[in-house]
Amino acid sequence: ISYEFDEPHRPQYHFSPPEQWMNDPNGMVYLDGEYHLFYQHYPDSNVWGPMHWGHAISTDMIHWEHLPIALYPDSLGYIFSGSAVIDHGNTSGLGTNGIDPMIAIYTYHHQEDPQSQGIAFSNDKGRSWTKYDKNPVLKSPGIPDFRDPKVSWYEDADGNGKWIMTLAVKDRISFYSSPNLIDWKHESDFQPDWAAYGGVWECPDLFTLKTTGGEEKWVLLVSINPGGPNGGSATQYFIGDFDGGQFSAEGEKVKWIDYGTDNYAGVTWSNIPENDGRRLFLGWMSNWQYANIVPTTEWRSAMTLPRSLELISIADEDYLASRPVAEISNLLSQNATSNENPILLENPLAEIKLKASDAGNKSIVLSNKEGESLLISMDMEQLKIDRSKAGKVDFSEVFSAIQHAPLEGLKVEEVTLYLDRSSIEIFINDGEMVMTTIFFPSSSFNSVEHTGFVQKAEIAYFQSIWK
Ligand code: FRU
Repeated sequence: ISYEFDEPHRPQYHFSPPEQWMNDPNGMVYLDGEYHLFYQHYPDSNVWGPMHWGHAISTDMIHWEHLPIALYPDSLGYIFSGSAVIDHGNTSGLGTNGIDPMIAIYTYHHQEDPQSQGIAFSNDKGRSWTKYDKNPVLKSPGIPDFRDPKVSWYEDADGNGKWIMTLAVKDRISFYSSPNLIDWKHESDFQPDWAAYGGVWECPDLFTLKTTGGEEKWVLLVSINPGGPNGGSATQYFIGDFDGGQFSAEGEKVKWIDYGTDNYAGVTWSNIPENDGRRLFLGWMSNWQYANIVPTTEWRSAMTLPRSLELISIADEDYLASRPVAEISNLLSQNATSNENPILLENPLAEIKLKASDAGNKSIVLSNKEGESLLISMDMEQLKIDRSKAGKVDFSEVFSAIQHAPLEGLKVEEVTLYLDRSSIEIFINDGEMVMTTIFFPSSSFNSVEHTGFVQKAEIAYFQSIWK
């Protein structure tokens, strides 16, 4: 089948499924030059339903080749979110012919029973999958919400290793360990009283990053729905320490990886080679408040741009910055500067960099020929997005709400926008603050009017990844 990828609103340089429903990214793992992206998928409808793992691969996280569905529901349940690892040394024994298998660790969601974890393996680089015949490998102690295993290899100072599963259990994170990905032992729970608890905790991730001072810290991502800073779904994170059994957070400040409404359930790729060293992240560019009813029919939802996560320090406090990966330059052409204001975009798929002219209030208005517009504004305290006039909004009661992100302590020097047909990703000062949001205009925004920035803007245009 060949897909057009040219329907109204279809993202042109963000990943979207060929057809039908998609939510969370799953099983993100790198192997032999290929980035694998699996995703929550219902191939029979454009709304959420019995979950499968859709599958795509890429050599640069930007251009994608769609592969057949990797995992189908079975008698144990739907295939909910989870992760994938390369089982170096074949600890599971599921590798054959000397191959270190690729192993997917996912949640079974059953209508009657509490959720449990299952595994599946591939000995041909993710092309074909076999479910482990003694699934599930981890059953719930009775709590229905027991899901989204993110597995990674942990090694202590003496080089003793084990697998760690970071699991969302209703309103806490539980850590389990295993020598072989099959037998799991409970280690500890993480549930600080000051965290955000507006909804159920989902899709965690656990990894290390270096501070700007070179110190290694552990980062725990926890998606939460509802309870995000602008309503519905969002991803909070904790910075601290993990000793192989227990995670402890520093400080008592709730922090969000992205303050926009549309970056959820994001996690990072496993098995990235050490000489690359990046922590590469991708999120689902929607929100459970309206994901099922957004005005697209052939397909639903897209992913964010892939981003590299880094620790930064602002006023002596550590934060997680996100930056689009350098590979996006593979797709950017015609670097240009513009001295006009409004800027008329030659192509509505654009990277737009604006430099602040002073510390005062700022605004950016994106509009189209129909007079629809998206308003981004900044004062000393806040960054705001108003999409209430940005096209179709009446499919949802909450879609028009103004979005806010705090800017205290942050001096806005540069704003970089990534505009696609139905989304924008706003990066302040190289990712110190991020907002991602979607919209559905009658035609693509092709005019950018700005105040509070120097006249000269840097523009680069994206080619479509589907052509
Ligand atoms: C997050 C989530 C996960 C779950 C999956 C089901 O968006 O609710 O917790 O595994 O979606 O599709």
